[in-house]
Amino acid sequence: MQLDCSAYDPNCRDCSRLAEFLDQVRHQYPAYFCKPVPPFGPERATLLVVGLAPGMHGANASGRPFTGDWCSDLLYGTLYTYGFAKNPRSLSRDDDQALIDCRLTNAVKCLPPQNKPTPAEIKTCSKYLAQEINSIQPKVIVCLGAVAHDAVLSCLVGIDRSIKRSAYRFSHAAVHDVAGIRLIDSYHPSRYNTNTGRLTPEMFSAVFALVRRYV
Ligand code: URA
Repeated sequence: MQLDCSAYDPNCRDCSRLAEFLDQVRHQYPAYFCKPVPPFGPERATLLVVGLAPGMHGANASGRPFTGDWCSDLLYGTLYTYGFAKNPRSLSRDDDQALIDCRLTNAVKCLPPQNKPTPAEIKTCSKYLAQEINSIQPKVIVCLGAVAHDAVLSCLVGIDRSIKRSAYRFSHAAVHDVAGIRLIDSYHPSRYNTNTGRLTPEMFSAVFALVRRYV
């Protein structure tokens, strides 16, 4: 099992709303993980994939990003197709799934009510994301959705104050070069986006084909 704790505090309660929500959910579902969900994958990786936040019955239950989530098969299946995952599916924290030269994390580590972290919570959690970017030293970051894009950009602005955020707008399959890192945007593979056809498996696959041009 790959678990790195350098940018992870399982006891973090910095966002009181999220910490109290996790207390409630833990009471309701005692078998669930119900802690900040740690990143998954090797400590150094060329590719970093950043999602939004754990889903209630997925990552929050299993303790691994996007595992047990509705969009799990699309994400891990695509990572597998492009050689970034050992197996096409991620079923639980104890399976033998492994990421290859790829790290997977969320902009917000705790389950947010209604899947919606507040701007203050995203900002508070960004210290972990910034540490991760710093220690992983990725060449490419795939941002799953606009929240991930903005969170990653904020971390990079923290490293280099001369970065102009307005030069890097989120749009699907956009490639941005920021502070020596290639940022590639994708619509989030959420149930809503895939059910409405905003994001098709082909569109998602094309994003990782783009990643493979650089990695
Ligand atoms: N599960 C995660 O871990 N992250 C997301 O962004 C969505 C579901």
